Amino acid sequence: RNYQIAVLPGDGIGPEVVNETMKVLEILKKLDSTLHMEFDTFHWNSEYYLQHGEIMPKNGLETLKKYDAILFGAIGDQRVPDEVTIWKLIMPIRKQFNQYINFRPVKLLQGIASPLTDGGDIDFVIIRENAEGEYSNSGGRLYPGFEQEIAVQNTIFTRKGTAKAARFAFEYAKRNRKRSVTSATKSNAIIHSMKLWDEVVQEISEEFPAIKLDSYYIDALAAYFVSRPKDFEVVVASNLFGDILSDLGSAVVGGLGLSPSANLNPEGDYPSMFEPVHGSAPDIAGKGVANPIAQIWSAALMLEHLGRADLAGVIVDAIERVLLEKEVRTPDLGGTSTTSEMGTAICEALQQI
Ligand code: NAI
Ligand code: MG
Repeated sequence: RNYQIAVLPGDGIGPEVVNETMKVLEILKKLDSTLHMEFDTFHWNSEYYLQHGEIMPKNGLETLKKYDAILFGAIGDQRVPDEVTIWKLIMPIRKQFNQYINFRPVKLLQGIASPLTDGGDIDFVIIRENAEGEYSNSGGRLYPGFEQEIAVQNTIFTRKGTAKAARFAFEYAKRNRKRSVTSATKSNAIIHSMKLWDEVVQEISEEFPAIKLDSYYIDALAAYFVSRPKDFEVVVASNLFGDILSDLGSAVVGGLGLSPSANLNPEGDYPSMFEPVHGSAPDIAGKGVANPIAQIWSAALMLEHLGRADLAGVIVDAIERVLLEKEVRTPDLGGTSTTSEMGTAICEALQQI
């Protein structure tokens, strides 16, 4: 199959780390003659917005729809409000393409030290419900500015949406021979939506008798991420809880420079989107020092989604080889290497595997 990939480098360090990722993918194509992949790059970013008054063309989503996957850098620029960059580009892609699963590996790579004293072999995934829950625009404010002001923010959980996230988590666990799924809840205090979450997760778990369901309140679970992260295999969480847990998870395995993510449309009727957890990092943009690993690993998740788990594994092996055997380290990992030195080192390691 000849995969068609849409590449959106975005703003800030986005284009810098995407550039290294393209180097890695080109090497991979050379090493494996069965891998056919073509790229079209779209510079729909803040600069585009400043020139055109919109962040993507009117038919932007129509255009992206035809691709097998979207490789995304990061978006965000001080000159453009986040309402535009996030809500007119990323959110429409996630929503219209029904990317209702946000998939985030939390794996301590060889050669990386966890800030936890007993980091050991942390290796689990967070499956975050990506389409509903706490992040809704239902609600409003009354009496703005007055002492009596009230704000209401509604949380919307549907049986269907919750079941799809839970089923994805259990199927992932089964496919990867995991023994447990951990659900993040707060049904002691949030008695309507979280009770529905608990019930639905429990019902789905009964279809998977070989996999144990552990359910924890989110506050306790946050503490367990620090005190015993090695116990987790698959964590399933609502939109807000999953968002918070993924940054915590990222921190315990070495930080944003190393954390990939996938916005998945499991049915495959629309493209899925692969992007690092981090943003455009304006504080280091243009200096050539961003760590490209999160972006390169996100491309590995893309290959896995496209059915090439073998090549995804090869990329992660190459990253680990560099971290273990070479002196190459970007500043976020305590070194002085540049973005491009890190990318080149990973390309060289690929050629040695
Ligand atoms: P950020 O993730 O861009 O940066 C947070 C900190 O982590 C900064 O100190 C940055 O230098 C560092 N960092 C991030 N990625 C790194 C890498 N690859 N290598 C080394 N260091 C790295 O988050 P921040 O500063 O809150 O947001 C900046 C902009 O990015 C904002 O406009 C925000 O809206 C946007 N953003 C976009 C996202 C996306 O495109 N999906 C996600 C998160 C933020
Ligand atoms: Mg977040």
